[in-house]
Amino acid sequence: SNVDGIPLTNEDIREEIDTFTFEGHDTTTSAICFALFEISRHPQVQEKILTEVNDVINFSSSNPIKIQDLNKLKYTEYVIKETLRLYPSVPIIGRKIMSDFKYSHSKIGDGVLPATTEVYVDFFNTMRDPDNYENPEEFIPERFENMKMESAFVYLPFSAGPRNCIGQKFAMLEMKMILAKVVSTFELLPSKESIQIEYAVILRSYNGFPVIMKKRKVY
Ligand code: HEM
Repeated sequence: SNVDGIPLTNEDIREEIDTFTFEGHDTTTSAICFALFEISRHPQVQEKILTEVNDVINFSSSNPIKIQDLNKLKYTEYVIKETLRLYPSVPIIGRKIMSDFKYSHSKIGDGVLPATTEVYVDFFNTMRDPDNYENPEEFIPERFENMKMESAFVYLPFSAGPRNCIGQKFAMLEMKMILAKVVSTFELLPSKESIQIEYAVILRSYNGFPVIMKKRKVY
């Protein structure tokens, strides 16, 4: 394979595989864990997911689950979106500016960032900013029901612009599938402990995800 007529080196190929492996695996793991934690603390949310999943999916049938089924899990999608708002798996990204960058901003004024400056985009704090969200610290999946985004740069767990996440549609399907299966098999209950967020390359918790899982009765 080549880019602009120049073949990829072995190192280029290794970096691509690295990106797919880590962006593709640890990110969804992180989001699923935070989602299970929040669901265990919000029984009404859990009840709504369960009702929706039972309406759409029959796990005891041998028919395979289809993408069309997963697309019907609207509320479950709001739960995942709200999880990624509060706990973006990739909390911050960095860039190095290659040529002088002029900016003009209503709050910080005008200026120039000279070439070679390193800049960081802080998704985590942007999505907890009270200027962008009402009650930003609260877990409210319903906020996505009628959400009109004022700007594409207010909700951005998958980044924005030409280098945004290439795997986001796949990630959403994977996370829906896992949450649907876990919530319909287990009742999630809170244990006393809370979590301590670790602001790392991929968002984590220092003390794991204390959730009690109780097998649901099958009738
Ligand atoms: C909850 C799940 C996910 C989240 C929150 C997420 C988030 C992101 C973010 C923020 C970026 C931009 C990184 C940067 O600019 O430095 C990115 C890029 C990328 N993601 Fe994801 N991602 C997720 C799942 C996935 C999955 C499942 C795959 C692949 C199967 C994937 C593949 C990639 C790749 C290849 C890039 C680089 C794209 C480019 O540079 O053009 N991601 N992701």
